[in-house]
Amino acid sequence: MVLGIPTVKREVQSYLMSTLQNLIENMSPAEKKDSIIIVFIAETDKDFITRQAVEIETHFQEHIETGLLEIVAPSANFYPDWTKLQQTLGDPPERVKWRTKQNLDFAFLMMYAQAKGTFYVQLEDDILTKPGYVTTMKNFAYKQITNKKDWLILDFCQLGFIGKMFKCVDLSKLVAFFVMFYNDKPVDWLLDNMVQTKVCRFDKDVKECKKQKDAVWLHYKPSLFQHVGTHSSLKGKVQKLKDKQFGKLALHYAHKNPSAELSTTLRSYKTYNLLRAYKGETFFWGLLPQRGDNISFKFMPPIKIEKFLFRSGNPEHPDDKFFNTTVEVLPVNDPSKQLLPKTRDGYYVVGLFKDTTGISEGVVPADFGPISTLRLLVRGDSERWAILSEIFIKPLVMSSPKPGKER
Ligand SMILES: *[C@@H]1O[C@H](CO)[C@@H](O)[C@H](O)[C@H]1NC(C)=O
Ligand SMILES: *[C@@H]1O[C@H](CO)[C@@H](O)[C@H](O)[C@H]1NC(C)=O
Repeated sequence: MVLGIPTVKREVQSYLMSTLQNLIENMSPAEKKDSIIIVFIAETDKDFITRQAVEIETHFQEHIETGLLEIVAPSANFYPDWTKLQQTLGDPPERVKWRTKQNLDFAFLMMYAQAKGTFYVQLEDDILTKPGYVTTMKNFAYKQITNKKDWLILDFCQLGFIGKMFKCVDLSKLVAFFVMFYNDKPVDWLLDNMVQTKVCRFDKDVKECKKQKDAVWLHYKPSLFQHVGTHSSLKGKVQKLKDKQFGKLALHYAHKNPSAELSTTLRSYKTYNLLRAYKGETFFWGLLPQRGDNISFKFMPPIKIEKFLFRSGNPEHPDDKFFNTTVEVLPVNDPSKQLLPKTRDGYYVVGLFKDTTGISEGVVPADFGPISTLRLLVRGDSERWAILSEIFIKPLVMSSPKPGKER
């Protein structure tokens, strides 16, 4: 299964890293072995390409190494002179340039992808997926093949070109079509035109043509892909087209956490408070974190901690993350010889929320012994509210060797 993701420089906010995180997170180990994600950086600015590639490599190193994730970019000569485009369909020049480039980007990505697998799925850089989406798509494709359906497109999302699956052997025809008409129409119109050209008779009516098209363009419901929400809790407004078939998204993840006394300097919005979030009933939504704000978990009694995971932001409010926020622990007994940074009030810094994914995940070194308090400390003023959609503190359980078993 080859997943193609074109990405471009964004003026405002890029969702590429959370998109990749979500794509990978929602794959099982077997699905990972069976898939390739190709990120196509559709820019010619070398510095930008390098920066973007390094960012991806840094965050997803293990997946680059296993071959799950690939990054490609075009040579600067790939694109035509943008000032010499024909103004077609009566569109303004900016729009003509945008859709022309998109045709060429898709063509490049598909050309690169065709030799890489059996099925190809077109995606975008600001989407969310459903868990197990790879297997769902594969099973749907196999089912059509078993039923001897001669399909061209399997469609897993109602929006534009997102979630359209092709057989890799068909891609070269699609590429040829896009390259022929790249200056004439938007890519989703070309796709429709191509299917029409392949299956409709010239001497039959529109209704008959639709019937023929529906026979080779099959829709799967409910949708497996959705656009990331783009409305903000503060400035509001911007709302991308949403696929109604996608259904409700998980806005928080629940865990059973050790018993603790909770406190925070952050005011919570409505009933999205810390206690309910800690118990896994909902997410925590705090108003405008400022430098010095904190969220603390005082364990009663102190516990040894094996690992922790804090996830900020959620699919509806992906930008409401904790920025410049550290995860810190206060051990009951100060460990000797510790290299981790220590605050003036005796806490050790064991984690940091990543700007890109909004996650802080880590382990507490074994020699720390029991921890009395774990806190999240905000170290810089934020202009946004912040959501904690997952709180997971895993106590260290001493495993006792099973009696009577040979090792
Ligand atoms: C959180 O911040 C408040 C106000 O600055 C402070 O009084 C309190 O001690 C802090 N709590 C922790 C656990 O650091
Ligand atoms: C984090 O803090 C640094 C230094 O104080 C600042 O430059 C940066 O803009 C902050 N990041 C965010 C996302 O607020």
